[in-house]
Amino acid sequence: MATLCRSRPTLHALSRTRRVIGGRASSPLSQQTVRRKSGPYGYTQAKALVFSENGEPSDVLKSVLLRSLAAPINPADINTIQGTYGSQPSFTSLIGTPSPSAIPGSEGVFEVVATGDPSSPIRRGDWVIPSAPQFGTWRTHAVASLDEILKINKEGLSATQAATISVNPSTAYRILRAYGPSAGRGAGLGMRPLEIGSGEWFIQNGANSGVGRAAIQLGKLWGLRSINVIRERSSHEATESLRRELVSLGADVVVTETQFLSRGWKDQLAEITNKGREQIGLGMNCVGGKSATAVARSLSDGAAMVSYGGMARQPVALPVGLLIFKDIRFVGFWLSRWNQQDVAGRGHMIDYIVDLIRGGKLKDVPLHELAWNWETDIDTLIGEVQSGLQGFRKGKGIFVFGDT
Ligand SMILES: NC(=O)c1ccc[n+]([C@@H]2O[C@H](COP(=O)([O-])OP(=O)(O)OC[C@H]3O[C@@H](n4cnc5c(N)ncnc54)[C@H](OP(=O)(O)O)[C@@H]3O)[C@@H](O)[C@H]2O)c1
Repeated sequence: MATLCRSRPTLHALSRTRRVIGGRASSPLSQQTVRRKSGPYGYTQAKALVFSENGEPSDVLKSVLLRSLAAPINPADINTIQGTYGSQPSFTSLIGTPSPSAIPGSEGVFEVVATGDPSSPIRRGDWVIPSAPQFGTWRTHAVASLDEILKINKEGLSATQAATISVNPSTAYRILRAYGPSAGRGAGLGMRPLEIGSGEWFIQNGANSGVGRAAIQLGKLWGLRSINVIRERSSHEATESLRRELVSLGADVVVTETQFLSRGWKDQLAEITNKGREQIGLGMNCVGGKSATAVARSLSDGAAMVSYGGMARQPVALPVGLLIFKDIRFVGFWLSRWNQQDVAGRGHMIDYIVDLIRGGKLKDVPLHELAWNWETDIDTLIGEVQSGLQGFRKGKGIFVFGDT
């Protein structure tokens, strides 16, 4: 498969060859003016049997052919391309590029086109999401083994909903369920999660992010209260509109970053928390810099601040007094690690989130859909990715695959 290199050399676009993963390449687009269609999905499908371990053919020749439906562009995907993420996919020659390469994209949903094993629990037409980290979702098709995918109940779900379950809502879910204030003197460094139904407070920056919106909604469902920090929009009206949007999701308090970083915030916080009598046991930070310091300062004694992102690309500076005198616990969170360590828990969590979405209890994040069709221009795809880390976006970029 040929690649078309562009000025940003780390991100190659796969050329529009009429080849499906595992098949034999035909000529690249430059030599193809006519597209010959065949097969149920309107393209020429090449297939290959694959094996990744040795054994009897009936045991090891198992794979599932997938067609992409939708795949979001998450900040982590861009960080991965930039080489600044916590893990990197290995470059491989298997996809036929001239130099070894990797397919970006960690989240998405696929439709099963064919299974290599008639006894497979996964059937044609099922929807699956990756269970392996850095699966590579920015592609039209994939071949996967059963342990790399997780079937989801697609009933009542849109493709974009299914494609955005496994990273953002899962992150909010895990943080809210696992972290919180000190579990008491006897517990040493131990902490307890916020108590369901208690009305306990948490505070978060980046509250309009995918994770932030999920945290607001899950927090509300679980009887917790949230203080949410957003950055001002370009006009007062736009800021108010965002504030109302988050309140409609269940945010108890929404403050702008300017308010939050101002001298007046201490008094405002005292008012919100009944002069500090109501504790803020958890802070969620995905921004860093001054915003993170202000989250830390807002926390009650023994609270936990969980850093899970660094959108401002500034280090987190912490006054030492918060560590010594307030015993604030500063920890980091990485969903990939959690997923690896608790595979069964992940499955239950995904089922739970899917049910919430289906029941209308977890609302969609604003999305900027980019149709990825046969004729979609490569620069358009790259441009969408390149702008993915920019602030003040109207919606998260997501590839929606059509006739590819
Ligand atoms: N650790 C993990 O396992 C894990 C899992 C999921 C996500 N994350 C991280 O969580 C963060 C949010 O991810 P997401 O997918 O929810 O994001 P998203 O929906 O794409 O939204 C991006 C968020 O970042 C904010 N932002 C962008 N540039 C900023 C800047 N320079 N300063 C302050 N805020 C800025 C945006 O606010 P504006 O609208 O004001 O620009 C928006 O709230 C990312 O850092 C991501 O890597 C981590």
